[in-house]
Amino acid sequence: MAPNIPCKKSRTSCVFLVLLSSVLCIVTTSAELQRFEHPTKEDGSLSFLVLGDWGRRGEFNQSEVAFQMGRVGEKLDIDLVVSTGDNFYDNGLSSEHDTAFEESFTKIYTQKSLLKQWYSILGNHDYRGDAEAQLSPLLRKIDSRWLCLRSFIVDAELADILFVDTTPFVNMYFTSTEDHTYDWRGIPSRKAYIQTLLKDVELALKMSSAKWKIVVGHHAIRSIGHHGDTQELIKHLLPILQANDVDFYMNGHDHCLEHISDIKSGIQFLTSGAGSKAWRGDMKNEEGLNKQGQRVNFFYDGQGFMSVQLNPTRAEIAFYDVFGNVIHSWTTSKLLHLIM
Ligand SMILES: *[C@@H]1O[C@H](CO)[C@@H](O)[C@H](O)[C@H]1NC(C)=O
Repeated sequence: MAPNIPCKKSRTSCVFLVLLSSVLCIVTTSAELQRFEHPTKEDGSLSFLVLGDWGRRGEFNQSEVAFQMGRVGEKLDIDLVVSTGDNFYDNGLSSEHDTAFEESFTKIYTQKSLLKQWYSILGNHDYRGDAEAQLSPLLRKIDSRWLCLRSFIVDAELADILFVDTTPFVNMYFTSTEDHTYDWRGIPSRKAYIQTLLKDVELALKMSSAKWKIVVGHHAIRSIGHHGDTQELIKHLLPILQANDVDFYMNGHDHCLEHISDIKSGIQFLTSGAGSKAWRGDMKNEEGLNKQGQRVNFFYDGQGFMSVQLNPTRAEIAFYDVFGNVIHSWTTSKLLHLIM
């Protein structure tokens, strides 16, 4: 109990103050990110697909990419799917009754191997519509695979997958010159929202005992695609990832597939934002990245997706094009890191 509450008035106001203080206590300790447990396979391994920037009612090769995801998903016996945001084009969902949800999701990703839990975050295009509609439990009733929240953790035993809402970090969306409107209803104070989120991410990473630490955001930290690096994330989020042994940062936003290594920290930046419209045809200077301690291992400007296969000592990443061909793959081992 709280013995120091000054209680000069009646006994009831005293009781009220004690109740209030315990409510406040609950509010402050529940700042931790919401956690979802996802089981691994029996042998302790986990595999999943990562897709971004996709919902266009099947157009721009969305259906072709979906078909190949189904094939690869079956081959790898995937456990779940990660969506890196920009789930519905052009302007998110207009409400939780928007038929785009079924037309761009339920009726597109129909193959058996894709009938798994999908974990999604919001992209900047999703914030242009009714952002809260995508978070609504009603969508989970329409299609039980759907789970989209602003920021949360998937605890998959050998891996912690931390989803971070990156759109509110980006200054551009808050300037008056920006010609789109954004649904900031859930974010009354941008500064407080970002500060709390960064603290939550840091705490979650510090407390994580998982073998693999994965962070997922919509915006790239490092990218040589159309949008390029996100300076706000380099400044605020990257130092936390570097200090806490994060293995992979996965994102969308740039409509391409890419793999960039942070040489010093060993973080791998993996862009999977090629779920539908791609082929922007522009690429930033790779040399600049090499100078800053990054190595560009792979860049592909067309459609496709990524797969991740994990066991306690080994991770295998692969990228696929619209025909399902592997166009880049990479493996790493935890034991090797210890020896090196
Ligand atoms: C669909 O994919 C094929 C093969 O990569 C490509 O030639 C075509 O331009 C793509 N279509 C669209 C609309 O992007």
